[in-house]
Amino acid sequence: MKPTVAPFPAARLRRTRVSPAIRGLVRENTLSTDDLIWPVFVRDGEGIEEPVGSMPGVVRRSVDKIAEAAAEAQALGIPAICLFPYTDQSLKTEDCAEAWSPDNLSNRAIRAIKEAAPDIAVMTDVALDPYNINGHDGYVVDGEILNDETVEALVKMTLAQADAGADIIGPSDMMDGRIGAMRAGLEKAGHRNVSILSYSAKYSSAFYGPFRDAVGASGALKGDKNTYQMDPANSDEALRLIERDLMEGADMVMVKPGMPYLDICRRVKDGFGVPTFAYQVSGEYAMIQAAAQNGWVDGERVMLESLLGFKRAGCNGVLTYFAPAAAKLLNG
Ligand code: PBG
Repeated sequence: MKPTVAPFPAARLRRTRVSPAIRGLVRENTLSTDDLIWPVFVRDGEGIEEPVGSMPGVVRRSVDKIAEAAAEAQALGIPAICLFPYTDQSLKTEDCAEAWSPDNLSNRAIRAIKEAAPDIAVMTDVALDPYNINGHDGYVVDGEILNDETVEALVKMTLAQADAGADIIGPSDMMDGRIGAMRAGLEKAGHRNVSILSYSAKYSSAFYGPFRDAVGASGALKGDKNTYQMDPANSDEALRLIERDLMEGADMVMVKPGMPYLDICRRVKDGFGVPTFAYQVSGEYAMIQAAAQNGWVDGERVMLESLLGFKRAGCNGVLTYFAPAAAKLLNG
């Protein structure tokens, strides 16, 4: 649809900007607490909230503190929380068995949240990197990231998360065939209503740097993730990945990172009309926080403007470390 405009002065486009009331009437997009998914970092111990240096305002929480935080998020009207474990170095192995242990950090946190805040949806991360001695999302043999063997492990991980009570499974690994395998596994195990929000178009990005510090994967990672995560130069390929994941049984799809990839969000929404999400990743968060802390930008306004951008680009919602701060502002 091509927007029409009459010749001046029949059209004065400033007329619809003349007052808050008129601006409100013609506003095309809105941001609400319903749009927010809050990623959080969980660590072992008790009563711990430990700051993440590269992400000002973000902490790693022990399971009891995660449960408290989830209850607060629920009270703020945030619909979903997404868990990322900071796994002790001693539990990282080549076979990544901790990934599907029913009592790993992430699964304990799921159960604690379900008890403390039963109405908030719990989303998980499915990838081997927090448990892998070499920091990759898949098994590494002779320098190669194995696909099919990794998918088998990811299915075990998925089922352990669903058994613990996860509502939304979030595969972030970028292996081929994982969505179909996870969906079949979930159906077979009777987890018919567990959703999959696939990190379908996940780019190999430098914006993940602070996250890898937060989960303690930076030191471990050997090499890069270019053989499985997408080339930032590509756009058509994202549509193929999205379509493939939908055909395999994804309920919702994600573009990641967010702000540098809003063109992809728009193409996905226009092309498929499915629930579309973006991940405003750690590096995006860190940039805004760093500038705000220096007084170079108005942190609150930039935060809300950045989040509204995702709505304008067609997203149904956004994973953002700003979720509680944004919700507080949106709730007045
Ligand atoms: C790992 C994973 C990453 C993020 C989410 N899951 C990092 C990576 O792929 O190296 C990044 C999130 C962020 O930067 O905020 N499977």
